[in-house]
Amino acid sequence: MNTSTDKHFAQRINNVPPSFIREILKVTQQSDIISFAGGLPYEKLFPIEQIKAASQRAFTHHGTQLLQYSNTEGDLQLRQWIAARYQRQNLSINAEDILITNGSQQALDLLGKVFINKGDAVVIENPGYLGALQAFQLYQAKFLTVSIDDNGMDISQLQHRLASNNSKLIYTVPNFQNPTGISYSEDNRRAVALEVAKTDSYLIQDDPYGELRFSGEEKSNFMSLLPQQTILLGSFSKTIAPALRLGWMVAPAAVMKKLIIAKQAADLHSSSLAQAILYQYLQDNNVEAHLERLCRYYGQQKIVMENAIKRYFPKSTQVTNPEGGLFLWCRLDKKVSTSALFKTSIQQKVAFVPGESFYTDNIEKNTMRLNYSGASPERIEKGIRILGNVITSY
Ligand SMILES: Cc1ncc(COP(=O)(O)O)c(C=O)c1O
Repeated sequence: MNTSTDKHFAQRINNVPPSFIREILKVTQQSDIISFAGGLPYEKLFPIEQIKAASQRAFTHHGTQLLQYSNTEGDLQLRQWIAARYQRQNLSINAEDILITNGSQQALDLLGKVFINKGDAVVIENPGYLGALQAFQLYQAKFLTVSIDDNGMDISQLQHRLASNNSKLIYTVPNFQNPTGISYSEDNRRAVALEVAKTDSYLIQDDPYGELRFSGEEKSNFMSLLPQQTILLGSFSKTIAPALRLGWMVAPAAVMKKLIIAKQAADLHSSSLAQAILYQYLQDNNVEAHLERLCRYYGQQKIVMENAIKRYFPKSTQVTNPEGGLFLWCRLDKKVSTSALFKTSIQQKVAFVPGESFYTDNIEKNTMRLNYSGASPERIEKGIRILGNVITSY
């Protein structure tokens, strides 16, 4: 019997394509490929010895308990640690407002489960984070896109979207956005908050990169501008290690109740072993010094990439100027299709993500996302030179 035809599958899965990025990651893991494609942290900066030591100590402290089932909300001490960091930024967030998730990707899935019925409107940045598009597509959301530029969201588009539709969720990455690297300005955040406050929608601030600032000034968290309506997502993936698969979400009490039910049904709880090791690591090490080191490296890698782009890409190339995070975004001459470029550049062993994967609307085919954190400065220089040749001979 052939059981693989579309009619066997739920409607929700049939229209969702595999993630371009997850697919090319399989190819780019070959060591001879210079990859600017994934959002990979720099492996040399993983605190490997400290995590090994933390694992030993966690087992010594907790014994067999470490291998037992645990609670859905997540390790209380870990949640207290996260809450205390927010409190230092004057955000009134407590451990009970926090749910530990399997990375912030699971938070997006749980939000989809809790909020989205088929056809429900979700306001989303255009271009936007592919993993959020995929997560919400699975719940058959209808996307209402809002363009972003170097300042943040286009406020008149946002007004229009909010006025004409009953959207439950507004998805944002205001710090060092994926894919563009831009950040919303302070004024833009306030203007967005003002518009959302007129509605009964929730604003999601997805913030995996917020602590990776290497220049410029820290901006307001939506949690301080719009506390009743903000759902805040965080992650240890970019700051400690993505393999832990640990992140968190902060949500108002009524939403949290539903999220906990959704998480119980999804996986009972996130790995308590990983949580205990992480908490031990956070206790035993100077996390601020680790973050400063990451920011220093990523700031340098970004400059190396930026300078190489100036040297090797056509002069007409427009590039964003991120103040943190892992990505920058290039807009090439209008006649260039970066998907076509990708086919040539991968033959020459350089990978990037063509911009069209990130659009749900008004696709700009001449754009590309480049990650500067995953490769060494030497490989960044070499890869951008190769890519520059591919573009100029297009
Ligand atoms: C904006 C954004 N949200 C969420 C995620 C998911 O991260 P994780 O599940 O590893 O925390 C990523 C990963 O790149 C991201 O860029």
